[in-house]
Amino acid sequence: MATINGVPVKSPVPLSSRMQTGRAMALDVWSVYNAANLPADCINLGQGYMNFPPPQWVKDAATEALGTVAGNHYSHPKGRPRLREAIRDYYSASYGRTLNVDNEILVTSGANEGQYAMFTAFLDPGDEVIMFEPYFDQYLPSVTFNAGTPVFVPLHPPSSANRRSTSDDWTIDFEELRAAFSPKTKMIIVNTPHNPVGKVFRRDELEKIAALAKEFNTLVMADEVYDCLVYDQKEHVRIATLPGMWERTVTVGSAGKSFAATGWRVGWLVGPPTLIGPVLAATTRIVYCSNSPLQEAAAAGLEQAPSRNFFPLQLQAYQERRDILLEGFDRLGMNYTHPEGSYFALLDISNVDIPDDYPFPQTIHGRGRDFKACWFIAMEVGVSSIPVSEFYGEKNSHIGEKFARFAFCKDTAQLKEAVERLQKLKNYLK
Ligand SMILES: Cc1ncc(COP(=O)(O)O)c(C=O)c1O
Repeated sequence: MATINGVPVKSPVPLSSRMQTGRAMALDVWSVYNAANLPADCINLGQGYMNFPPPQWVKDAATEALGTVAGNHYSHPKGRPRLREAIRDYYSASYGRTLNVDNEILVTSGANEGQYAMFTAFLDPGDEVIMFEPYFDQYLPSVTFNAGTPVFVPLHPPSSANRRSTSDDWTIDFEELRAAFSPKTKMIIVNTPHNPVGKVFRRDELEKIAALAKEFNTLVMADEVYDCLVYDQKEHVRIATLPGMWERTVTVGSAGKSFAATGWRVGWLVGPPTLIGPVLAATTRIVYCSNSPLQEAAAAGLEQAPSRNFFPLQLQAYQERRDILLEGFDRLGMNYTHPEGSYFALLDISNVDIPDDYPFPQTIHGRGRDFKACWFIAMEVGVSSIPVSEFYGEKNSHIGEKFARFAFCKDTAQLKEAVERLQKLKNYLK
């Protein structure tokens, strides 16, 4: 009998077979480390959502939209004209072309749904989708629900001897990547800046990926939802802007990440009409359109961002948050990866000494050592994080088992308190 999270499903009819794929029925990591399962005063650096609101002027635009008639009704499946125009005006320069609001921009219900719709539009049973490990967990069921087959290629972490490694030290073995391509490869997902490593893919890396995509005639899904969070003067390169890549790339953005509004579920896709057209057809049949008032708010956000200097100021605030966390890791003396993008940092937890007889919950039995370490840290230190093996297929999960992911999309007061608590970990190091 099928089970959900280990509990037998008492459905009067059998579940669809796709529910047995993509870990859809397994207990997801977010539920294990849910606040409800942890001590009440535990600081949540696990799930990547902010503990602060979107900017007031963006929220005001949402309120204003709710006060209109049109703002409460269906939008065009392509997205509201105002938002598509705002996306064109804000992002065209970064693509080196004037984006066409009629057929090169598609508003979706969060980046997730846009990605799902792209898989629906292009995957046939057995088509392969290459993704780098660790991967954003939602990719897996989104691919398998659409009958695709995931093919994993690990990013290789720096050696532990290298205490202050950066996300740039997580490398691609291009022979390994080439070997992952096959005649069945339909798509490769390139997530930069990367969740959870924080890697900002270098131009030369993207050029090599682009060359393979062209050689094997595959599409590229460029997941760039953290494009406004690139630190240390690193260059964010859109793979869509490399020679010959616009034609085969769909780039994914998210208002949730850009405006600290992850619950709004507004995202967008940018690409050539030949790719955006089929994805529009799919998204129209999946959700018809994205919610209207928050599209208006996202439009106001992009319209006013330049005059308010919003993204540079937001970046500065995130850099400060990152540096508070990293200073705490430094004091701890543990190895970690210095992230150059996104709002996540990986701590190497392989030398945390976890007592064998510690009372772990049933939900993490049989999972990687990182599941135990994250549980132990949350219980003993009062800071929650996410075990990174969750973002791997079976073969390479041992790589992820060495790491816990800490999200720093939190205010500075909470981060300061978290790093003080984390110092207690010194008592539990091997
Ligand atoms: C890499 C990556 N892609 C996509 C998403 C989904 O974004 P959205 O909330 O807009 O659906 C996330 C959210 O965490 C993410 O980390």
